[in-house]
Amino acid sequence: MSRKPPIKALVFDAYGTLFDVHSVIALCDELFPGQGAQLSQTWRAKQLEYTWLKSLMGRYQDFGKVTEAALKFACKSLKLDCPPESRKRLMQAYLHLETYPEVKEALAALSHCKLAILSNGSPGMLKALVRNNGLTKAFDKVISVDEVKIYKPSPKVYALTPKKLKVKKSEIGFVSSNFWDICGASSFGLRTFWINRAGNPADELGSKPYTAVSRLSDLTQFVSNPAK
Ligand code: LAC
Repeated sequence: MSRKPPIKALVFDAYGTLFDVHSVIALCDELFPGQGAQLSQTWRAKQLEYTWLKSLMGRYQDFGKVTEAALKFACKSLKLDCPPESRKRLMQAYLHLETYPEVKEALAALSHCKLAILSNGSPGMLKALVRNNGLTKAFDKVISVDEVKIYKPSPKVYALTPKKLKVKKSEIGFVSSNFWDICGASSFGLRTFWINRAGNPADELGSKPYTAVSRLSDLTQFVSNPAK
């Protein structure tokens, strides 16, 4: 561990790592009483599935379109009547997702590194989400897969990080709560930090994270602060 070069940049996944996609449950419940959690789960699962399918088919569409298509399907599958104005409200809620409780403090404690986001989100969605959470100044770069028109875990996505941050691959730490995203980044050759808040088992994908921790604030021990 000690022979690795120091980490100069930390790159974070957005949805599910910094921002809680299930913070839409309250609105889902308001629109469809008692069905909020189920709708949110199905919506997220379909959203990810569609990113993978569209990538395999070579039919990229931006994350806003994919997210809305997944919402339409999730409602149909749960037999929920979701008129366009309700769909619009749910899509708007996606721009106001809440951060996990420790995120803002942890980002401040890590700010001696270059900090960036690398996400499936479209540039517009990410910009709004980061701004609505008062985090615009926290990041040096917000990188969207839209630049390469394919979704994670394509290596083309992770290859954006050294290029855009102008930091060597070996000096980048990639942080995600999504294990499949960790596998993609590890396979590309980034040093990966799995944030396993829920104590989930690791997927059997033949790949391991460099380190697993239970919250973002635990990362400070792996990233030395030259000012201290
Ligand atoms: C993202 C997906 C993985 O933010 O949630 O890229």
